[in-house]
Amino acid sequence: MSMNRRLAPLLIASFTTLLLFILFQTTHLGQSWHRIPQAIGLGDKGPTAEQIASGENILPDLRESRPSPEEQKKQDELKETVFTPGVPKTPGSNYTRTLVIARMKEENTSWIEEKLGNMLRPTGLMDTAIYVMDDPEAPLHPPLNKGHEAMAYLSYIVEHYESLADISIFMHSHRFGWHNNELQNLDAVWMITDLSPEHVTRQGYMNLRCHWDPGCPDWLHPEATELNLEKQEERVLSDAWVELFPEDPLPSVLSQPCCGQFALSKERIREVPLQEYIDIRDWLLRTPFTDYISGRIFEYLWQYIFTGNSIECPAMHSCYCDGYGICFGGPDEFDRYLDTRYWLMHYQSELSHIKWLKEQIDKATVEGRFDEAAQLEVPEFGRDEWLIERIDAYRKEVEVKAEDAWERGRDPANRAKEVGREWREGDGF
Ligand SMILES: *[C@@H]1O[C@H](CO)[C@@H](O)[C@H](O)[C@H]1NC(C)=O
Ligand SMILES: *[C@@H]1O[C@H](CO)[C@@H](O)[C@H](O)[C@H]1NC(C)=O
Repeated sequence: MSMNRRLAPLLIASFTTLLLFILFQTTHLGQSWHRIPQAIGLGDKGPTAEQIASGENILPDLRESRPSPEEQKKQDELKETVFTPGVPKTPGSNYTRTLVIARMKEENTSWIEEKLGNMLRPTGLMDTAIYVMDDPEAPLHPPLNKGHEAMAYLSYIVEHYESLADISIFMHSHRFGWHNNELQNLDAVWMITDLSPEHVTRQGYMNLRCHWDPGCPDWLHPEATELNLEKQEERVLSDAWVELFPEDPLPSVLSQPCCGQFALSKERIREVPLQEYIDIRDWLLRTPFTDYISGRIFEYLWQYIFTGNSIECPAMHSCYCDGYGICFGGPDEFDRYLDTRYWLMHYQSELSHIKWLKEQIDKATVEGRFDEAAQLEVPEFGRDEWLIERIDAYRKEVEVKAEDAWERGRDPANRAKEVGREWREGDGF
């Protein structure tokens, strides 16, 4: 993977295109894209090439997903740790892993063998457990195709409770998705390759998504009585809670970054008795809620099930740094990088819009449709050249900073320092 990492900054140049591609694969144009859950097997028609080229205002502004320092502080204070962190193995030790994937019959997961072959047995120490939701003939399948990926994940734990790998990684079947990490090219392959088993062992539970939106800083309010269309699961949560955790008081907030992809240590999984997983799965098998609702509920329950905390919103820079080894040096440096990156994307999008406009004007003029040409917005003179200059400068800056961040993360001392963890000479990641 070191090859890929070196290429990372170069790939950022084409990131906008990729992001648009993924966006349109998974969501409807014009809808609030980032609120749409990534359901298994959710397919959609994309936009026309013209819509993409026109640079309509469709780029998500992920800056909103960045917590303010006050928000972060509040989260850190709110989070009561009710379990003891795990202890990583001696530095340089190997970790076994299992990649647990939920997929539909028609979905293609050959990217796993193609891109992660060297991590898989026999060369590596990783196994896969691919649950085919809608194929009762598949070697691994859930008892019922219900509750989206939650049913597969729970089935895996129930069926392998005694034979777990050091690290279990729970993910969806598609390689690219908007809910994957932006700084890892939205690519599940990078997330799996970069994931630090030591970090997962320490944390016990790690949400694989570093970005806060949607899901943090505070998302579901189980006491809410009004229907919120963006969170339809909110209103039924208190009913579900009583059935799922009859002994536990209803928390006032349930929050974590969205979308149901996470990693767990063996110890953390086993901290919860097997019978509890069985009971939770039974609930999922029986519940009259639609898959949409029950699947969504679980997106915000996993952190509670595995850690007992209703809120899990780690700082984004520490998630990237200690979780994946992408270290910008601190929260401010991380923010500055994101800012530059968003301006780059913003300018790229504006430039493609100007190009499109010019083409439309030329075309209409050539074809003698002068009235139509006159209707089109005329780009500001020289704006495109100014944009090209900016884009060039920002791209270079983004490339250099990303390269540095990966480099910094190679040193375990840097990772510890960035997240304020004690580190002594000879300690590993
Ligand atoms: C780790 O695994 C590799 C092969 O997967 C093996 O060559 C190496 O000896 C192992 N290291 C330790 C410390 O067990
Ligand atoms: C799955 O995708 C790969 C490319 O990643 C392709 O080579 C293969 O033919 C596809 N398999 C099926 C069954 O569509």
